[in-house]
Amino acid sequence: MIKITNDYIKIDSKNNTLLLGIFKTDNYYGAAHSWATLLYYGKKINDSKDYSFIIKPEIYMASNDDSAIAPRVMSSTGDCANRESFLTVCKDGVFTNRFNFVSAKIVDGFTSPLPTARNKGETVCLTYVDAYTNTTLNQYYTVFDDSDVLATHVEVVNTTDGDIYVDKLSSLQLDFVADEAEVVTYDGAWSAERNRHDTLIKSGKYVSESILGISSATHNPFVMLKVNGKVIGLNLIWSGNHKELVEVSPYKKVRVLTGMSDYGLYYKVSKGDKFVSPEAIFLVESSEEAITLEMHKFSLNHIVNPDFAYKDRPVLINNWEGTYFDFTGDKIYDIAKKAHDCGIEMMVLDDGWFGDRNDDRRALGDWDDNVTKTGGLRNLSDKIHALGMKFGLWVEPEMICADSELFRKHPEWAQAVPNVEPISRRWQLCIDLANPEVKDFLTDKLIKLFKDVNVDYVKWDHNRSMSDIYSHALKNQGEYFYNYYVNQTDMLDKITKACPNVLFESCSSGGCRFDLGMQYFMPQNWGSDNTDAYHRIFIQEGTLAGYPQSSMGAHVSSYWHSNSSIESRFNIASIGAFGYEFDITKSTKKELSVIKKQVAYYKKHRKLLQYGNYYRLGETSLKTNQGGFMVVSEDKSEAIAVIIDDTQNNEFNKLSYRFKGLDADALYKVTSRPQSNVKKQIEFTAYGDILVNGEVNFGKFAQLETDRADFRGSFASRMLYFKKIN
Ligand code: GLA
Repeated sequence: MIKITNDYIKIDSKNNTLLLGIFKTDNYYGAAHSWATLLYYGKKINDSKDYSFIIKPEIYMASNDDSAIAPRVMSSTGDCANRESFLTVCKDGVFTNRFNFVSAKIVDGFTSPLPTARNKGETVCLTYVDAYTNTTLNQYYTVFDDSDVLATHVEVVNTTDGDIYVDKLSSLQLDFVADEAEVVTYDGAWSAERNRHDTLIKSGKYVSESILGISSATHNPFVMLKVNGKVIGLNLIWSGNHKELVEVSPYKKVRVLTGMSDYGLYYKVSKGDKFVSPEAIFLVESSEEAITLEMHKFSLNHIVNPDFAYKDRPVLINNWEGTYFDFTGDKIYDIAKKAHDCGIEMMVLDDGWFGDRNDDRRALGDWDDNVTKTGGLRNLSDKIHALGMKFGLWVEPEMICADSELFRKHPEWAQAVPNVEPISRRWQLCIDLANPEVKDFLTDKLIKLFKDVNVDYVKWDHNRSMSDIYSHALKNQGEYFYNYYVNQTDMLDKITKACPNVLFESCSSGGCRFDLGMQYFMPQNWGSDNTDAYHRIFIQEGTLAGYPQSSMGAHVSSYWHSNSSIESRFNIASIGAFGYEFDITKSTKKELSVIKKQVAYYKKHRKLLQYGNYYRLGETSLKTNQGGFMVVSEDKSEAIAVIIDDTQNNEFNKLSYRFKGLDADALYKVTSRPQSNVKKQIEFTAYGDILVNGEVNFGKFAQLETDRADFRGSFASRMLYFKKIN
């Protein structure tokens, strides 16, 4: 519910309020100015006619500080504040702005060339006009009936008499009166994605940014800000270069800005045109746990394609780690048959089925079946379907190899500055998607491919960061990144609409593009190329802080595992969109029987594992040698916890757990999933209150496992099933 009066804009979600005050003066350091003050953001408050007691923006003459400037939700470059501004609009060489608040109204909707949250509630639009350039800025806030998350974005409308250039544009600004703030970020690298970092900022600016052309594993756009005892979760519905900035000024002022990165941005907006920022989402809660739960629900209800949001995600087998490029259609069929015998539901054919791609040095761009190798993709797909399995295919459309038919025909379609040898990584160049001709070619080519092969699933990869930024289709390369994402949006929109039954999984050298921009079109994201179960504990914990379990691809593999048992590999991978990734035709009888039981267990509890309310247990196991995670059904009648013992051989460590999310008054029967490497299973009954508030001690369960190759080198785990019996 949004209420607008002469002085206030009150934006109420289910349980929270964002309160803005409209402030107008003829004497802002001698000049006229008006803006929206951020008066309050927190638990829902009653409606009142007067909130003037909260903040009195006193205007007094201070020569060079920003102590008198009240918290705001938008700020101009050159408006006397010392802090980072929300945007910069340049005209005729002038880069200073003073955006004055003009009006606020409830609007029917808005248009954007980028994805924005689905199933919107009310939207309010605040309009400002720049005193210098006469540019109009529209700032939107949207509420959702079933969520406390708010969405916001802005559009710069050229209402001037000539061209303007946008040099910097955020999506969201929040200011607080506080002398410090803590920011939680999820950072890393290929194979070590989304490791949590907590940074306390007492002075100056902290920036978390990607300039790689993708959201990147380096810094994820999901961050949490802790300020004045509140936790604020922030994310972007955007898959490109992004920037999250937290600034603490000496005058007890904290500002957070999120949005696209200004790296390489110098966007020309012609008279009458508009330039729209990505949509940011944000949420205030009193705990990190509440942020995680609400962000998961928001993603499922407002980001992910509703046709897939709560649909069972199939158990798959992927041939990549099993065969790499060395396979034939017959080999893939053999893998599928063995997998099908174990209850696995989908066969995914990874890299190497097209052009003359038998290694990673060539053929990206040649999206045509290598019939000699595959025996015909449609034939393979039909045979796999005849087994009763689904069939999935890998593609990497945003890339081109110099050694490819496509490059020989269209060298100008690669991202490269004319007459300069571009930087090649993994023998590949990025394709110039800022060029609409390239976008149209790929859109048509891929729709035809997916339909011809009759695929049920697509793994859409993107294996390198961008360099040599240049498009032959652009006069001004300062528009490159933005136009790339706009064309990407159009392409993904058309492809996903043309193939409505295909489940898409985004991948980028593992999990280097794990974001809501991708999730909007692709309900799943491959978590990481690192499928080692021990490393995955931390990667997955960081990922699940902001994204739901069903969105995270997680597989049991054989190549990437230190010394963890196949049972622990299952326990860890089971918290995601689950699958296997090795050559199952080489598995022993005993392994096949273990896999069969795992698949059956996963399928039986799939709804709970994929869509239950997620909690992490304790601190990360890295810090305390024990940890794990838990999923609880909405009605709390059942739950699954995975507990982890990382104590290695330390006799003195006490392994005790506090469970989460259970019904305090209910009696639960707790049983461990039967593991092939454990003789004695866990079984007991207990009330929810003691399970949640007590310290349940499981002893040194690592020592009871029989197949840990090196007792000192790995970890042990158990999966516990909680069933409410009374
Ligand atoms: C990336 C992906 C892998 C695999 C390879 C194929 O690295 O993350 O899962 O698909 O590409 O080249």
